[in-house]
This record gives sequence, structure tokens and C-alpha cells, in this order.
Amino acid sequence: MTTPRLLALSDLHVAHPPNREIVAALRPDGDDGGDWLLLAGDVGELYPDIEWVLQTLASKFATVVWTPGNHELWTRRKDPVPLRGEARYLALVELCRGLGILTPEDPYPVWDGPGGPVTIAPVFLLYDYTFRPDGALTKEQGLELAYEKGIVCRDEALLHPDPHNTIEEWCWSRLEATERRLAARDPALPVVFVTHYPLVREPTRVLRYPLFAQWCGTTRTSEWHLRFNAAAVVYGHLHIPRVTWYDGVRFEEVSLGYPREWRRRDVRPGVPRQILPASEVTRRL
Ligand SMILES: [Fe+2]
Ligand SMILES: [Fe+2]
Repeated sequence: MTTPRLLALSDLHVAHPPNREIVAALRPDGDDGGDWLLLAGDVGELYPDIEWVLQTLASKFATVVWTPGNHELWTRRKDPVPLRGEARYLALVELCRGLGILTPEDPYPVWDGPGGPVTIAPVFLLYDYTFRPDGALTKEQGLELAYEKGIVCRDEALLHPDPHNTIEEWCWSRLEATERRLAARDPALPVVFVTHYPLVREPTRVLRYPLFAQWCGTTRTSEWHLRFNAAAVVYGHLHIPRVTWYDGVRFEEVSLGYPREWRRRDVRPGVPRQILPASEVTRRL
């Protein structure tokens, strides 16, 4: 019997066949079935791909916790499920429920294994264009700079806010609902956040194209890791896997990314990151 671990991954992007192979070959090291997997979004884009990833991973881990990235929410012409915006999100939540996977719409589970107990809080928050580029005072000015340089996230064409008017309105309504949920949690337990977007802006400072930060989060969560007593913040989206610390809180970017990205790295791709128990190395940092 091996020790159960709390593991995390994101940005599996299984439309790319090498990434699909990585997911198919993925197994927890132990065979006692006790490991949990936190999935921080962008597992795929088309509904059948997302369904395949979730089904595959649900069969390999004792518990899977998922929050969407932007790619799951894209509405593409070739997708057999043509839903847009919130309706698409809710359809994915239903898909997860059928597979026993926990989502931001479920009661927050508690990890009672080594390093616990901690509350696991999958949060779906989107972004509101407040990670603005230098010189931009408004969303419009920020986007104008992005269009000038040709650094525009495909969300602008494929991610629809329906029934909200804009992505930022959807983001703000998610923030309010999520704050209420977090306020009602057991205050005695620390929280492990699972979010596609970093809760603070700092991780976006190392983006190759800083203009892209506009699609990476909101300034309104900049204190959440302190306010809600975070033990760790698990995120993805940036495709820059690393561990950083802000205000003494561990932030884990756990993305696999695209084959052209992971082939440049000298680590084995797709190995889930161990969040708890904290590794010796992490504890010493
Ligand atoms: Fe991604
Ligand atoms: Fe993303």
C-alpha cells in the first residue's frame, strides 16, 4: 500500500496526438487507487475530446476534481455540441457528474490524506481584462495595443459570454458566487485552490508576450490566497510549468502544454505534480 497523494495537471490539450498518448499512458505510481488528481483546465476543446480525457482520468484516480479552462468553453463549428458560454459550461458540469468528477458547482471536498486536512476549492473565474499592458487605462486601450501587435487570444472569436453581455460580466458574477462559497467553507482548514488562471498577476510577468496577460485573470483575486488561507494555488493556462511563492504561499503552474513546448523542456512530459504531501524540496523552499 503506497501513500496516497494529491496530484495536479492542466493544459492537456489532447487535440494533439502526442498529448493524447501521454494521457492514455498516465497512471498513478501506486496501484492502491488512493491518489487524487486536480485538473486545472484546458484538457481539450471539442466535446468528444473533453469527454474522453475525463472518462480516462476518472478511471485512473480515486477522485478527480476539474475546473474549466478557456479551451473547453470554446464553441467551434466542428464541435458536435454547439452550446455557447454558460450553457456549455453547465453541460460539462453534467458530464463530470455522470463520471463522478467534482467541479466548481459541487461542495468542496476535503483532502484527508497526507498533508491534509485541506479544503479543495476548484474555482471557475475567467478574466476581466484588468491585467492591462503598460500605458493602457481601459480594456479598450489594452485590446487596441494587442490588436496592433497581433497578440490576440483566440477567445475573442471562440469564447462566448452568453447569457452575459461580456466575458468580464461573466467573470464578475463568478467572482461573487465563488466568494460566497469560500466564505461559507470550514474556516479551520487551509484551502488548495484549483483554478485555470493564476489568482495573482505576478506569474504573467514572464510571458513571452506580456500583452497576453489581459486574458489571464483579474486583479480582484489578488488577495484571495491570503484571505482564504491558501495552502497552495494550483493553476495552468500560461504553459510555463514552475513553482513560485507569493506572500509565503506556494503557487504551482502544472501545465503540460503543446508538444512544441514540452519537447523543449528536459523533463518527462505529463508527470502529475505532487501538491500534497509537500515534497522535501518544496518544504525547504
Ligand atoms: Fe492551455
Ligand atoms: Fe488556457
